[in-house]
Amino acid sequence: MSGKRGTADGSQTAEKREAKLRRQALVYVQKLTKLYPISRGLFREPQLLHALDDVSFYVRHNETFGLVGESGSGKSTLGRCLIRLTEPTVGQIIFDGRDLTALSPVELRAMRQRMQIVFQDPYASLNPNMTVREIVREGIDVFGLAKTRAEGNDRVDQLLSRVSLDPAMATRYPHEFSGGQRQRIAIARALAVEPEFIVLDEPTSALDLSVQAQILNLLQDLQEDLGLSQLFISHDLRVVQYVSHRIAVMYLGRFVEMGPSDAVARRHYHPYTAALFGAMPLTAAEAARRPQLKVVIKGEPPSALEPPRGCAFFSRCPNGEAGLCDTEVPRLAEIVSGSHHRVACWHPEID
Ligand SMILES: Nc1ncnc2c1ncn2[C@@H]1O[C@H](COP(=O)(O)OP(=O)(O)OP(=O)(O)O)[C@@H](O)[C@H]1O
Ligand code: SF4
Ligand SMILES: [Mg+2]
Repeated sequence: MSGKRGTADGSQTAEKREAKLRRQALVYVQKLTKLYPISRGLFREPQLLHALDDVSFYVRHNETFGLVGESGSGKSTLGRCLIRLTEPTVGQIIFDGRDLTALSPVELRAMRQRMQIVFQDPYASLNPNMTVREIVREGIDVFGLAKTRAEGNDRVDQLLSRVSLDPAMATRYPHEFSGGQRQRIAIARALAVEPEFIVLDEPTSALDLSVQAQILNLLQDLQEDLGLSQLFISHDLRVVQYVSHRIAVMYLGRFVEMGPSDAVARRHYHPYTAALFGAMPLTAAEAARRPQLKVVIKGEPPSALEPPRGCAFFSRCPNGEAGLCDTEVPRLAEIVSGSHHRVACWHPEID
């Protein structure tokens, strides 16, 4: 490993820094792992699919944290685990100082008001038999957020206006709306319970390009106006970079690089991140600003049913070292002490 990566942690010890981050974060995740048992027939033990492997990170108050990675890398599993829609196998999720994995069902139910999710498919995520008013109102009623019926209705109208939908359309059903409008309804529904944290799981991937931009702008405005914390998931690096303060790149259930969005865009160190950026068309300004590491990756990722012993990227990596990379899992470590830019690689692309 490069000498740069071994640098001691300035005046603060790593432990002190971590404790401070834990106090300051809204969501603080430690060593999160999710294994799905896959049946192999009646008389055989199920095989374990490693969807998420030893993931640690945090989301600050008022911050959008972006997750990017190819299909099957574990993005949705992570998002769902964070709000306990999926049960993690191992690990801790601390939300505003409380361990979500240790809550009773009643405590968890109350906590759900504080965290919401918006899914990719606006056609599947809205109940076709409910009017828009009923859809947006449901959470308000469940959590008793309106004292009277009229107050609840006013709140629905305000929410629809906030996502640029005409409140007069509240009596209509989801099939009467376009994809972009449905996603606005889903966003209004998520906001209705006044959450602090929202998981946005590919919220624009199913939409036309022009509509995508409108929804992204709306989400950014809402994040700033309401001071929300968000986990923004996408396979589209440009989108993630556009909306996120910090990003993480996922590969086969692990984070391979994580850091401030601008810093990772300016200079990326993991060969997989370099390949993602290398595949992204650059504007002239971007091309002038940062060196383009041309890493072209071939082949498919290994199976999550039989993850490799060492670095999961070894089979596709131009820098892989047999005997090291294929036996030892590289730890996510800071490139430069204090930079919060981390990479998991034995031979990061350092000049
Ligand atoms: N309920 C489940 N049961 C078994 N395996 C699952 C389940 N959900 C996800 N997986 C597997 O876990 C791995 C991670 O899936 P996940 O959906 O989290 O990936 P993703 O990064 O969100 O992919 P995509 O970009 O396609 O949405 C994949 O191998 C997937 O097949
Ligand atoms: S650890 Fe080795 S195989 Fe993995 S990305 Fe780095 S150089 Fe490539
Ligand atoms: Mg997904």
